[in-house]
Amino acid sequence: VTWWLLFSSPHTGIQEYQDGVPKIPTACITVEDAEMMSRMASRGSRIVIQLKMGAKNYPDADSFNTVAEIIGSKYPEQVVLVSGHLDSWDVGQGAMDDGGGAFISWEALSLIKDLGLRPKRTLRLVLWTAEEQGGIGALQYYQLTKANTSNYSLVMESDLGTFLPSGLQFTGSDKARAIVEEVMCLLQPINVTRVFRAGEGTDINFWIQAGVPGASLLDDLYKYFSFHHSHGDTMTAMDPKQMNVAAAVWAVVSYVIADMEEMLPRS
Ligand SMILES: *[C@@H]1O[C@H](CO)[C@@H](O)[C@H](O)[C@H]1NC(C)=O
Ligand SMILES: *[C@@H]1O[C@H](CO)[C@@H](O)[C@H](O)[C@H]1NC(C)=O
Ligand SMILES: *[C@@H]1O[C@H](CO)[C@@H](O)[C@H](O)[C@H]1NC(C)=O
Ligand SMILES: [Zn+2]
Repeated sequence: VTWWLLFSSPHTGIQEYQDGVPKIPTACITVEDAEMMSRMASRGSRIVIQLKMGAKNYPDADSFNTVAEIIGSKYPEQVVLVSGHLDSWDVGQGAMDDGGGAFISWEALSLIKDLGLRPKRTLRLVLWTAEEQGGIGALQYYQLTKANTSNYSLVMESDLGTFLPSGLQFTGSDKARAIVEEVMCLLQPINVTRVFRAGEGTDINFWIQAGVPGASLLDDLYKYFSFHHSHGDTMTAMDPKQMNVAAAVWAVVSYVIADMEEMLPRS
């Protein structure tokens, strides 16, 4: 009997090689196919797999971070940064990873502009390029702006879905956390007030490691890993109402922190 292992939607992982080791090609199969082969093996069937792989590595090409900002009215040199990454894995459309994060970051600036608001500090949007290849766009941006790191009050990235938000993940000093907890109280009307530990994101980790407070969106991850890095990551995975709530959290936190008289304390 010949079975065609073509159904379902594999999660495409990555393979990294240390220097000097032979580069053995890597492939992934779906959970469904793995379970089927496991059943066949436990029945004692001999499994012969004919594997055709078409993956290629192309040479690097230029791509660009996209940056927009509302310049602060009182402390234009100081920055609150909101972000998501503009690239996606090479299957699917990247609606969830990370179109959602890119869009709520864009929407935060757009809402604040539409409301005619201008915070004291500069509110900057960065849509990172080449996150999936290892944070290449963010690393370059960090290196170019490193001299000004001390003037970043908060860096934010959404890269874990924009489904119904549970709250904000935050990394920073206890004093800074206390302020962020007060800011999140403003979101009582939409019931998203919780502040968790471990704010992170591939792109913003460069700043967090340099001591800048960092925040990321925590949301309902129930569906996330069913679509992540697969052909299923399309617009149908998204829910506009949930995205609106996520954008509201992003806009309120970034605006209020950018408009405070003081930067978030580092210690
Ligand atoms: C760093 O900040 C200074 C002002 O404080 C500004 O003139 C300069 O353009 C900034 N550099 C970058 C790379 O953002
Ligand atoms: C940081 O901002 C302050 C005031 O906003 C400015 O005077 C200073 O030059 C900035 N420092 C750097 C390193 O950009
Ligand atoms: C508010 O959110 C919490 C989780 O953070 C949830 O347990 C609770 O049911 C929510 N309340 C309402 C009225 O939706
Ligand atoms: Zn991502």
